[in-house]
Amino acid sequence: MHAVIINGSPRVKQFSNTDKIISKFAEGFCRDGNTYELYSISDRREWDDARKAYYNNFNIIIALPLYVECVPGLLMEFLETLTPKNEYTQISYILQGGFAEGSQLRCGQDYMKILTKELGCSYGGTLVKGDNFYIRFADERERERRTGIYKEMGAVFSRDGDFFSDDCIKFTGPEVFSLPIRLMLGLMFKTLAKGLAEKTAAGLGCTKPIDCKPYIKNPLPEEMPTAEGIGCRI
Ligand SMILES: Cc1cc2nc3c(=O)[nH]c(=O)nc-3n(C[C@H](O)[C@H](O)[C@H](O)COP(=O)(O)O)c2cc1C
Repeated sequence: MHAVIINGSPRVKQFSNTDKIISKFAEGFCRDGNTYELYSISDRREWDDARKAYYNNFNIIIALPLYVECVPGLLMEFLETLTPKNEYTQISYILQGGFAEGSQLRCGQDYMKILTKELGCSYGGTLVKGDNFYIRFADERERERRTGIYKEMGAVFSRDGDFFSDDCIKFTGPEVFSLPIRLMLGLMFKTLAKGLAEKTAAGLGCTKPIDCKPYIKNPLPEEMPTAEGIGCRI
């Protein structure tokens, strides 16, 4: 089996969680001799080839992160350049996001069905999983723990040719967290989360406290016109 995989994240390959997920997924998928070609929407220079691959192949997998509950705008821009095909082309989706509960991704999952119809293709199901915010910040061991599970799903796709099996449904994890877990998470956000965010920010080169409000500490210089001064209503 040959698949065209499109990474729909606007983040450059190096920093894209979706890219790391695709790598693991492809390992499992290629175990039985399958092949794939990958295109990243973040690089507009790949759009022409991605379009050609979409028109010339019948097994397309779009892997995408949720951005504000939606398909990332850049991916949408690319999709709008495609002409609808036919039912012999199957599009399947790997939908991932930051929030861990499956319920957070269901709206996006429903849209994948609509999108497939708009493109005139057959729907191959959507592999849904959240809790992926930290992949790019994680050390090697933790990253392997978070992404390695996609290898098995690559093997499942190789076996079934779609994402409809119970294995894929179970892969999502909890639909909604239980009350004790929600209480524990609430406590964590009030205590440990700030420390973790500070560590992550420092790792990204941030030298100021994460609650720093530079624009409040440094009011506008007098000569700079305010919104009211130039006739704007605020
Ligand atoms: C601007 C922005 C909006 C996001 N919105 C959501 C969201 O609505 N739901 C969600 O589960 N995750 C959301 N996330 C988290 C991303 O989906 C998550 O970090 C994903 O792994 C990013 O993949 P990428 O690095 O390949 O772009 C958002 C992230 C960003 C930066």
